[in-house]
Amino acid sequence: MANAARPNHIRIEPVTGALGAMVEGVDLAQPLDRDTFSDIKTAFQDHLVVFFRDQVLTPEQHLALARQFGELHIHPTTASKPGYPEILEVIKEANEKENWGDGWHSDLPFLASPPAGSFLLAREVPPFGGDTQFANMYIAYEALSDEMKRIVDPLKCLHLQNPIGYRPGKNRSMRFLEAEPTEAIHPLVRIHPVTGKKALFPARKGLGRIQSMKAAESEAILDFVRVHAENSDFACRFRWEKNSLAFWDNHATQHRVTADYFFDYRGYEPHRRHMDRVTIA
Ligand SMILES: [Fe+2]
Repeated sequence: MANAARPNHIRIEPVTGALGAMVEGVDLAQPLDRDTFSDIKTAFQDHLVVFFRDQVLTPEQHLALARQFGELHIHPTTASKPGYPEILEVIKEANEKENWGDGWHSDLPFLASPPAGSFLLAREVPPFGGDTQFANMYIAYEALSDEMKRIVDPLKCLHLQNPIGYRPGKNRSMRFLEAEPTEAIHPLVRIHPVTGKKALFPARKGLGRIQSMKAAESEAILDFVRVHAENSDFACRFRWEKNSLAFWDNHATQHRVTADYFFDYRGYEPHRRHMDRVTIA
């Protein structure tokens, strides 16, 4: 595990025992030299999500960073940042009452090949709240009993696109494309394409169905798996600052944004939150 100081001055500090690491001593605006790239990749594989502070990146530098790790992916149903087809703007305006992505999920499970990961850069954040939580689906799987592993291992699950998440008007600042709904069938326990390790891959409530099972059986199994996967022992939580960046493994983790910074009943000033996401296939 890479957590010692390296000659190239990268420092890697785990956030929790479950996953996540802070990476310091690197300027992501510059092309990464071989050692730095290798250290970040190792930290990413060890910790599944890596966090960076104070990364002042132009959209071009954000794209160039992601391109060093994989081929860029364009979101199929959400409009991109004007002039940058590979950048997705995740925005909640101050007056909006709902966050995009506040339920536990991995990104784009309704595609035949969900993307490998994303680089999420904070452009504008509230003074408090709006943290993102991540959870390690390897250890969520490992924590199951052998008997439960035998039950879930062979199951296949249909993932539907979320018609509510993409409903125009839910987040008025996010522009959704007219696209045919898609769906995909994946193993409930997926084999990570790089590590070969098993990771839980639950469908979101109301957006999945285990194949070859009665509806009630499917609901019971999926409810159990979802609640199990949401155990905070498997998770970490990242406090954003402007110019913070997170890079996560979409095949081994779930994430959610905490919707805690715009509630009238707490008497808070409404705040805007704007993140730019570049995703790799
Ligand atoms: Fe997401």
